[in-house]
Amino acid sequence: MRIVSGIQPTGNLHLGNYLGAIRNWVRMQDEWSAKGAQCLYFLADLHAISMPHDPVELAANTREMVAALVSCGIDPDKSILFNQAQVPAHVELQWLLNGTARMGWLNRMTQWKDKAGKNREGASVALFTYPVLQAADVLLYQATHVPVGEDQKQHLELARDIAQKFNNDFCAEGAPLFTLPDPIIPPEAARIMSLRDGSAKMSKSDPSDMSRINLTDDADAIMQKVKKARTDPEPLPATVEGLAGRPEANNLVGIYAAMAGTSPADVLAQFEGKGFGQFKPALGELLVETLSPMAARYRELRQDGEALDAILAKGALKARDLAAPTLARTYQALGLVRG
Ligand code: TYM
Repeated sequence: MRIVSGIQPTGNLHLGNYLGAIRNWVRMQDEWSAKGAQCLYFLADLHAISMPHDPVELAANTREMVAALVSCGIDPDKSILFNQAQVPAHVELQWLLNGTARMGWLNRMTQWKDKAGKNREGASVALFTYPVLQAADVLLYQATHVPVGEDQKQHLELARDIAQKFNNDFCAEGAPLFTLPDPIIPPEAARIMSLRDGSAKMSKSDPSDMSRINLTDDADAIMQKVKKARTDPEPLPATVEGLAGRPEANNLVGIYAAMAGTSPADVLAQFEGKGFGQFKPALGELLVETLSPMAARYRELRQDGEALDAILAKGALKARDLAAPTLARTYQALGLVRG
């Protein structure tokens, strides 16, 4: 078993990242690595250059994201933690897979459509080929499981399509080169929505900071954001069915359930008939209680840039070793002569 996943070091880690992905990274590291699985977690800094960016900020955000991941429980001695830019095999494999990926497949990617918007002609080529790099990220290590939020499912399906086509086109029958990875998506937190709009996902790119809870937020900010979160005037229903057509209420109940490790049905059993005036402070307190220790650790870790660089350097060394055999076999399968 090999577990591989990544996060873009653009801005801060938010609750959607944490509940949708990072919490599973930590669980898999703690539970599966004891059974012999290897976990590789990386900062997708190469993906971050697909959108306009500030180089100084990217470098700072990369180090800060290492601190954030470690403070959430990623242990660099148990997992391989690195950034793509220090493992050139990711870019090499992307180019090799560009011959297999189809324009039509990439054109269908919803993230491409969302991010390029109406200005496709002005979007970067990197934004278009972004999913091929993501496929390379996981296929390079023969990943079996990829813990992600729901929004990455389509990219993972594309990675499987690329792997399948490559295996069909260039490998002998019964000797496929690439493993088809399975996405691992937490059902209770597949898609955490914005606090300001229950129909938009919680995202780093939302211009309103009130739309998300950041790992760096202090207790006051968290309470404030939860209190100001958009809701409707109805009290909480008795059953999950009663949340239909109430996206904001549904989101807050989902967050409570995910944080408390229970189900939305249990949360409603506890808060049935109560208004948001009662529910929101309880949710805020639960968030503060869980996130505060991580935030405190983060503030401490982010001070030591050298230690953070050392973590990345050590991780990259291991990742380069693991990547080498698959990369070599890919060159060979394509008939590329390398001495
Ligand atoms: P990124 O950086 O946008 O997000 C990192 C992880 O957080 C999850 N996530 C969410 N989950 C639930 N609710 C939300 N509102 C929410 N927002 C974000 C994402 O699904 C993701 O798991 N392309 C990827 C990074 C990447 C990658 C990879 C992931 C690059 N290569 C290979 C897996 C495997 C991205 O931009 O994630």
